[in-house]
Amino acid sequence: MGMLEGKRIIITGAASGIGRATALLAAQEGARVVAVDLSDTVDQTTAIITGSGGTAIGIHANAANEDDVRDFVTACVDTYGGIDGIYANAGVSGGRKPLTELTVDDWQRTLGVNTIGVFLAIKHTVPHFTTKNSGSIVCTASVAGLRANAGGVDYSASKAGVISIVQTTAYQLYGTGIRINAICPGLIETGMTRPAFDRARERGTSERIGQINPMKRHGEPVEIAQMACFLLSDRASYVNGQSIPVDGGLSASHPWVFPR
Ligand SMILES: NC(=O)c1ccc[n+]([C@@H]2O[C@H](COP(=O)([O-])OP(=O)(O)OC[C@H]3O[C@@H](n4cnc5c(N)ncnc54)[C@H](O)[C@@H]3O)[C@@H](O)[C@H]2O)c1
Repeated sequence: MGMLEGKRIIITGAASGIGRATALLAAQEGARVVAVDLSDTVDQTTAIITGSGGTAIGIHANAANEDDVRDFVTACVDTYGGIDGIYANAGVSGGRKPLTELTVDDWQRTLGVNTIGVFLAIKHTVPHFTTKNSGSIVCTASVAGLRANAGGVDYSASKAGVISIVQTTAYQLYGTGIRINAICPGLIETGMTRPAFDRARERGTSERIGQINPMKRHGEPVEIAQMACFLLSDRASYVNGQSIPVDGGLSASHPWVFPR
């Protein structure tokens, strides 16, 4: 039995990176998956799952748009007869613009996807969870939401907002049996970070990537997927209200001198 056997799970941002890796692993673990993304390549994610005998549907939708969120939650209920968990993972980097170049539009886009998108995922799944007194909500925050130097001001604030939403929502859901947690990934090679990896490879400095954490490497999407699937599963039955770094130990440290 897989750890998500029979569970009906929505995953946003499932066309790429962490979301795709989580969709594939959740299906391997027995989940019936609703893979959501703005990008048409979400169909590749569902094709990989169904091609290997798993169960998935793909939905093109904007995780920051309330009507779209309502519709993909309804699609999960209509297709699978209910919903057991959601991974609110879709996110944008904000482009790492310097503070003085950031516009209000930049802020609204970053917060709209990364923070309000998480709120919408919670708002529209909770009514389905409360009818059965169980459910797991997992969100993607970031080490950028914990401390400086892992993203722009807008991105970092958007992820700190996710950490706060997780804490406050856990108490809003007092006594319901619904759990909510977030993952704070460190540096993971995905569509979002690929330009930085490509630049380092072009400059011949790729061996320096990830060297400031004690694992001395960057992370792979599946290493976040493993935590996401654990949190979505009943094995995490007493884990609630937490934002858990999965970062090779990066966020454990005070500032230190990198040994050369
Ligand atoms: N890669 C890292 O190092 C890292 C570190 C910390 C946190 N994160 C977070 O992980 C999450 C996943 O990102 P990733 O690294 O896998 O990047 P990615 O770019 O590979 O995947 C993000 C996916 O989200 C989708 N998406 C973006 N906006 C959307 C929207 N409004 N509606 C629906 N889908 C949308 C994109 O199309 C893309 O498929 C994000 O929340 C990101 O902020 C990533």
